[in-house]
Amino acid sequence: MKRILVLNGPNLNLLGIREPGIYGSESYAALVAMIEEKAKALGVSVEVRQTNHEGVLVDWIQEALGQFDGIVINPAAYTHTSVAILDAVKAVGLPTVEVHISDVSKREDFRQVSYIRAACVKTIAGHGFQGYLEAMEVLCK
Ligand code: DQA
Repeated sequence: MKRILVLNGPNLNLLGIREPGIYGSESYAALVAMIEEKAKALGVSVEVRQTNHEGVLVDWIQEALGQFDGIVINPAAYTHTSVAILDAVKAVGLPTVEVHISDVSKREDFRQVSYIRAACVKTIAGHGFQGYLEAMEVLCK
């Protein structure tokens, strides 16, 4: 059975409360439930985590080596700043899909840079929560 690790960065725990016009009114718990349901349908195991701390994301990516077969990651604001997260994904070499709930390409200039993108097999942005499910499908192909 394939093992997928889903990682979420800062402020994604506030989904539903946080800027609902951009991120929707569904909660983080609802996102986790959708991902777990999709894992069952795909016949894979999944672990879903969220942290507000960059170093914790780096630790989790490193620890995924040998524990998981692929990573789905929404690094949130760290997308646009973190070389450390890019380096961690490159270091472990696990297939990784970058996900953003909003369409970052249509937002502020500072969101146009993604450091992690260079290490990812695919980037999915602007598909809402559904983007995570699409990313899981990519890892199962
Ligand atoms: C986000 C987009 C980022 O620019 C932002 O900082 C986030 C969420 C998204 O899912 O659309 O926190 O990654």
